[in-house]
Amino acid sequence: MTVKLGLLGLGTVGTGVAKILLDPSERHPLVSKLEMGRVGVRSLDKPREVDIPPHLLTTDLEAIVADPDLDIVVELIGGLEPARSLILKAIHQGKHVVTANKAVIARYGDEIFTAANDAGVYVLLEAAVGGGIPVIQPLKQALGVNRIHAVTGIVNGTTNYILTRMQEEGGDFEPILRDAQALGYAEADPTADVDGLDAADKIAILASLAFGGRIKLSEVFCEGIRQVSAADIAYAERLGFVIKLLAIARRDTCPVSNDVLEHLQLRVHPTLVPKHHPLASVNDVYNAILVEGDPIGQVMFFGPGAGSGPTASAVVSDVLNIAGMLTSQVVEPQSKTQNPLLACSHQHYCQVSPMADIVSRFYVRLLAKDQPGVIGQVGLSFGNHEVSIESVVQIDMRGDIAEIVVVTHEVKESNLQSALNELRGFGDIQAVPSVLRVL
Ligand code: HSE
Repeated sequence: MTVKLGLLGLGTVGTGVAKILLDPSERHPLVSKLEMGRVGVRSLDKPREVDIPPHLLTTDLEAIVADPDLDIVVELIGGLEPARSLILKAIHQGKHVVTANKAVIARYGDEIFTAANDAGVYVLLEAAVGGGIPVIQPLKQALGVNRIHAVTGIVNGTTNYILTRMQEEGGDFEPILRDAQALGYAEADPTADVDGLDAADKIAILASLAFGGRIKLSEVFCEGIRQVSAADIAYAERLGFVIKLLAIARRDTCPVSNDVLEHLQLRVHPTLVPKHHPLASVNDVYNAILVEGDPIGQVMFFGPGAGSGPTASAVVSDVLNIAGMLTSQVVEPQSKTQNPLLACSHQHYCQVSPMADIVSRFYVRLLAKDQPGVIGQVGLSFGNHEVSIESVVQIDMRGDIAEIVVVTHEVKESNLQSALNELRGFGDIQAVPSVLRVL
């Protein structure tokens, strides 16, 4: 028996998928049972890297999702529409879906998984987070018995590349972004990457799997890397940290009793990571996801977070999982019996803590007049709001302005913000250019 696929999109990832399907030798024997039934493209005339028989190509994507001969629809067109509608139509036609589309799943996962469960089909998305890194399937299966405490990831290659170069070259964000764009490491419109939106989509998906509940994307706190400066990276380095854009999902704990709470912290922001931490040495475009749970302890997944081949590897692994069930008759098409280790079964929404309540260490860089009493004022304002200082250094001068860097002990974010608001009211404090969280 062969399993017939309809491919929506023959771009970078679609081409990688086609290459695997057209060259099955020395891969899992099931790969040779996969057949490209139809391939949806934007233009029939475009020169292609892969030899697809021309009769398989079509620009009619609606016809693919409605084709009764196809078992699985592989959605690789990206973007929100028509991807969302095509996925829903495929589900309503009783087809299983494999997608790499984190934006659609993070926004419309509720609608899509409800429809999939009603139709008794699977929607698998290994490629949506971490490119070629297997992390979705492990969270569903191999780590499923664990009580997960935290998922912390470097899940955006573009920002990791930019921050790595800033670290290595001592350069500022803007010129390195422009160079990354010229070299093809960053998009012409870099917003989704550098403002943390891509990472927010990905941590929403990981959190949903790790903590078994749906996530409202609007509740993920999101801060990008535009404001990270060469000065911050240099200070962080002297203090024993590197700066990474982290996507964090963790079960909140009570700051007093340390009891685990029901609420989750969900946040994406540049973070000072201690140099000895496993995520600190993940550089360039690589991604890594650290999962912490009971009883596993810590396990880290590392690898290529994007690219044609790696992402195609994740896509075809999902296809293979479904094909394995279809060919072994575990799942009859339309039988509505789903393997709970592959399907999405949760329906409630996770509760998310407001950022004001989150407890963290902070790095604060202040510009102040270099005169008696300024550091005293900083200490006083922090103390007034119960912010305990771990270290304070004044290293560089910018003209007659002193640069003061403070690292705090763990403090509730609202207290830190109150202390900073008080400080901003003093004439001797010129500016607070950086406030970064410390892991
Ligand atoms: N734009 C993403 C990144 C790759 O830079 O990691 C696709 O998820």
